[in-house]
Order: sequence, then structure tokens, then C-alpha cells
Amino acid sequence: QPTLRQLAQARGIAFGSAVSQQQLAADTGYRDWAGAQLGLLVPETEFIWGHLQPSQLQGPNFDDTDQLVAFAESHGQQVRGHTLTWHTDLPSWLTRDVAAGVIGPEALKDLHRRHIESVVGRYRNRVSMWNVVNEPLAENGSLRTDAKTGFWALNASAPGDPQEYIRNAFHWAREADPDAKLYLNEYGAEWGSAKARGLYNLVKDLIAAGVPIDGIGFQTHAPVSSRLSGLEDTMRRFAALGLEVAITELDVRVPMLADSDELAQQAEVYGQAAKTCLSLAPACTSVTTWGFTDAHSWYPSSEFPSWGAATLLDASMNPKPAYHALSAVLSSW
Ligand code: G3I
Repeated sequence: QPTLRQLAQARGIAFGSAVSQQQLAADTGYRDWAGAQLGLLVPETEFIWGHLQPSQLQGPNFDDTDQLVAFAESHGQQVRGHTLTWHTDLPSWLTRDVAAGVIGPEALKDLHRRHIESVVGRYRNRVSMWNVVNEPLAENGSLRTDAKTGFWALNASAPGDPQEYIRNAFHWAREADPDAKLYLNEYGAEWGSAKARGLYNLVKDLIAAGVPIDGIGFQTHAPVSSRLSGLEDTMRRFAALGLEVAITELDVRVPMLADSDELAQQAEVYGQAAKTCLSLAPACTSVTTWGFTDAHSWYPSSEFPSWGAATLLDASMNPKPAYHALSAVLSSW
């Protein structure tokens, strides 16, 4: 039985998943499955600034990311670094000192630059792609500038030029590793939404300004009722700008408890996502799921309290219909 990794590779794309270093270290079944089935690993939280550097004085702690990258290397797997610039899970010292005015705009830019240099530089030639900026857009398609989620545009960009922090992040990442593929990663842009239009305009601006951006990640957290209609057209529009595209955080949530009809429908959605990427390959480079077992998933979450069963394997690591559908699409489609 070929692995998902082998099947995807034979079709010219990579198959991967978000993984947690804690689970890799603690759980043999999890570790063995990840080692065998994945061609691409995305550390689920380990690279996020607040996780890497909870204390300003002590500097970043690379223990988890070192182990995760070493695991990937020993299995010949690619790594997608997630993520260098995000408004979620920032270090509490950083948000506190910025709010208090102790860290001003220039000091924040300097910290942002040094963060990118130290993280990307450490894994130069080992982490082959980065989500340089994650989720910069509000639902209406403009950059986030509200008090709760607008940290970057409000504090690290000049007034009137909210895109500045994005341009900076890409330039610094390119300098730190000229060979890494640099992505902007977003959710809710998988169909003709206001956010997709805003993303398109943002990316055109960045390209026109000479910003070194290589690809767009479409997260693709989908409800089971989704048909992913619009995904292919949307990804094609971005590919036509000369960019790579990728499905970066695929999962298909089901209202709990899931019944067998819903799991069959979920399988269709997984298959559809893979077909979409294959139809756009080689511009579409990879399909990455956000976790691979229902035992370790971000669902249920506060946003989706009664949803779950979103991944390819059940909580006992048995393949669900979604696994078989993905395998079938990658083998035959
Ligand atoms: O590591 C600490 C642990 O030390 C502590 O004991 C525990 C107590 O709550 O928290 C742990 O950190 C949590 C971390 O997950 C690891 O489990 C964070 O609080 C929690 O916020 C974090 O949630 C992650 C979330 O992003 C925010 O960073 C989820 O695992 C992760 O699946 C989720 O992933 C996001 C993508 O990055 C971006 N796209 C959407 C996606 C789903 O929300």
C-alpha cells in the first residue's frame, strides 16, 4: 500500500500535515504515521513568536523546532515554517511593552527584523518555505487595523502605509535565506469573497513594489457542507500572477457527533481539495492538512465549539473514509 507521501510525490505535489513536537516525542503511533505518510511537516505552534520566545531576556528557545526539523531531516521531509508574522500568540512582553509605549515603532521594526533574521537564518537551507505573514486581512478585505488584531499595521507600519510591515517581513526573510520559498498564508480567501479580492489587490501591490513573495497559502478550513466551489478559480487567479499556490491547512469539520453519511461527505471534500491542487500543479505545490488524527486537533475550538472529527484518522489512528478518498484521488485522478 503506497503512502500518501509517495502518491502525492508521484503526481508532482507534496502531501503534508501540521504536527506537534510534543506529540512526536510522546506518542509512537503518531510519530510512526508522520514519519511514513508525510512528505512535508508544518510545526503547528513551535515557530510562533510567543512560543519561541516567552521571555525577552532569555532569547528564543529553539529546543522544539530543532528537534522537529531534525525529525524531518532524518525522514527526508520538507518543512514549512509557520509563521514569522502573526497577530496571534505574540510574546506577552512584546504586546505589553508596545501598548505601554516602552517599545516604539522603530524599536518594534528592529525586533521584527531580528526575529526573522534569527529564525530564518538558523534554519537556512533546512526549512525550505516560510509563511512569512499569516492572516493579515480583515473579513472585508482590508488589512487588519482594529485594536484587537491590528497589532502589525498599527504599530510596525508608518501611518497611511499599513502594508509596510508586510514588505519589510518579506525582504528580511529573503535576505536571511535567499533559497526559501516565501508565502503569505490566509483563510477565508478560498472563494470569491471580499477577503479574496482584498488579498488579490494586496498581492498585486506587493509584486509591483518589488517584494520577494513566492506563493500564496490557502488555509482551507472547511465545513463538511462545503463543496470548495470557487477554490480552483481563485487559486488559478493567483497562479496567473506568477506565484505558487498551496493548500496549507486543510481540514473538514463535522458537527459532533459525526455519523457515517457525514464522514462520507467529508471524504468527498478531502478528495475535491486534492483534485483542485492536482489540476493546478505544478503551480499548486502541496496539500497540507491541519493535523492528521482526531485525537490531536484544534477542534473543538471556542469559535467552533460543537464541531470536530475534522482529520483523516479517527482518535484511535484508524483511517476514515477521508483517508481512502485522498489516497484514491492521488492514485488515479
Ligand atoms: O504550549 C502551551 C502549553 O505550554 C500550555 O500549557 C497550554 C495551556 O493552554 O497552552 C499551550 O499553547 C497552546 C498551543 O495551541 C499548543 O497547544 C496555545 O495556548 C494555543 O493558543 C495554541 O493554539 C493554536 C492556535 O493556532 C493559536 O496559535 C492551535 O494549536 C493551532 O492549531 C492553531 O492553528 C491555526 C493556524 O496557526 C493559523 N490558521 C488557523 C489555525 C486554527 O486556529
